[in-house]
Amino acid sequence: MIRRLMILGIETSCDETSVALLEADGAVRVNLISSQIERHQPFGGVVPEIASREHLQHLFPLVTLALQNASVEWASIGRIAVTAGPGLIGALLVGVSGAQGLSYGLGIPLVPVNHLEGHIFSPYLRPSGPATPIPSRFLSLVISGGHSSVYDVRPGSVEMLNRTRDDAIGETFDKVAKFMGLPYPGGPQIERAAAGGGEGSKRFAFSLPQFNDRSADFSYSGVKAAAIRMARQHAISVSGDQQDLADFCLAFQTALIDQLFDRLDGIWDGLSAPLPQEVAVAGGVAANGAVRARLAAWGKERNVIVRLPEKVFCTDNAAMIAFAALQKPAAAVDPQRVTARSRFR
Ligand code: KG4
Ligand code: ZN
Repeated sequence: MIRRLMILGIETSCDETSVALLEADGAVRVNLISSQIERHQPFGGVVPEIASREHLQHLFPLVTLALQNASVEWASIGRIAVTAGPGLIGALLVGVSGAQGLSYGLGIPLVPVNHLEGHIFSPYLRPSGPATPIPSRFLSLVISGGHSSVYDVRPGSVEMLNRTRDDAIGETFDKVAKFMGLPYPGGPQIERAAAGGGEGSKRFAFSLPQFNDRSADFSYSGVKAAAIRMARQHAISVSGDQQDLADFCLAFQTALIDQLFDRLDGIWDGLSAPLPQEVAVAGGVAANGAVRARLAAWGKERNVIVRLPEKVFCTDNAAMIAFAALQKPAAAVDPQRVTARSRFR
């Protein structure tokens, strides 16, 4: 019997150091995530220099711990997958250099992975057991701190259908939260505050950005500017009236989500048959309860299967990086040829 080797994943593109071990069928044996959020919080955002130092400190202890927790020997590992970009260059370099060292030293093939492909396939990972089978065509909505895009995914091809012309959706959550004095990362904070919002949210009217060329691209900088203007005008802040804060957060969150669905509708209606079988949403903002509920309703209305990632696979993690590498069985390259790139495509 041929022993099917495992894959080791390494992710260091931003503010999470993560190491995972997956079976060849996508079953996650371990997915360790060391978050640096507390180290960056005093600065209201990620400080690249601090991120790199933290990755350097945590990467190898996490690799050792992952092997120990799974009771796995190096001899059982057939490939190493590492995020090669996009991301913070200094942060990426720690993961890539570490993976190159392991690949060289232990003679294990190395697979460079596009972080976005990690997010794209993440809805198919399960908390235990083999991954959910990936359909022959699906639409992927990646909504994170650095990206907002819809992709058309087919075997061996990932086509970007739109992108943001300015800020990413998560970045917009974070910047407006910061303006109101909420801690980083702002998305979950705004979601929590919005839960207490009600009728009063109607006072805050946001408009939906549209382009003259009827492009399906996202644009969040207008929403950000309008939110900051309104927050200033109505003195909305953590230290102000809590009901005002809740109402404002609900209106702002709804404006961000309305735009997501406006674009998704436009893209879906423009697709030609055979239509994708599923829509999968991924990235940190996919952890948002309102996004998840709207997407589930959207799928029901249109009779499309909707895949929502487990919350642990929404934000950056190494399991999704190893899983993306599993989608490309022949992708290992000479470790000397792997380079970190802050922009990937
Ligand atoms: O995917 P991710 O970990 O990092 C990037 O690759 O960008 O996403 C982080 C982003 C942050 O902007 C954070 O505010 C947002 O995801 N986020 C959320 C929620 N949880 C994380 N946004 C809205 N609601 C949430 N519950
Ligand atoms: Zn990410």
